[in-house]
Amino acid sequence: MLYTVLLPAAGSGKRMGAGQNKLFLELRKIPILIHTLRAFEQDPKCHQIVLAVKKEEQAFIEELLVKHRISKVAAITEGGAERQHSVYACLKASPTNGIVLVHDAARPFIRQEVIHRLVQTAEEFGAAVAAVRAKDTVKKVENGIIQETVDRESLWIIQTPQAFRYDVLEKAERMAEKEGFLGTDEAMLVERQGEQVHIVESTYDNLKMTTQEDLLFGEVILTKREQ
Ligand code: C5P
Repeated sequence: MLYTVLLPAAGSGKRMGAGQNKLFLELRKIPILIHTLRAFEQDPKCHQIVLAVKKEEQAFIEELLVKHRISKVAAITEGGAERQHSVYACLKASPTNGIVLVHDAARPFIRQEVIHRLVQTAEEFGAAVAAVRAKDTVKKVENGIIQETVDRESLWIIQTPQAFRYDVLEKAERMAEKEGFLGTDEAMLVERQGEQVHIVESTYDNLKMTTQEDLLFGEVILTKREQ
């Protein structure tokens, strides 16, 4: 089945400290945003892309789309104050059926194979998120003192994409807005509706470009993929 991808790109990227939207920073002379868009542009199963952007950046982003020949962007909508608001804005601008995939524009290295497994799982069960196993020991700490060592076997680090049947995500977003609930990802909104969210094992190189060192890791990932 074809899917629609919702791409929130309206953040400011303060932790990157770049003084501009981090998505405009370049890896191999190509903006991070374009790397991410290409992953979907090149996927035959991606039907269309819906972008959320800051109003003042829309014209520049439209220029980038033309320059880099990105043709699948069906709608560009205005993002909100929080990521969740930007995702909901995308959802409202998207077709009202089928599978929707939410993906951070700041994760340019997503693999097609992971996308396809997510779409397949969401078709079957309604909701699926990309995740990797926790590699480090994780402890709960209060006031600098360890309270508890959490059993690592059951810990997963959650990424995007997160894939949903349209009706599942729409209800979760609508209820969250109605109840003034702000989550850290879409799965959290769906979980609170009592829905089961499935894990799809992803890869550690699906990095979210967040701080300066991620740009270095990004260059390494691109070099490796060229080999
Ligand atoms: O800041 P962070 O990297 O966690 O944001 C994840 C994604 O959400 C980024 O692609 C960012 O542009 C987007 N975002 C958004 N609207 C916001 C905040 C973040 O679209 N208000």
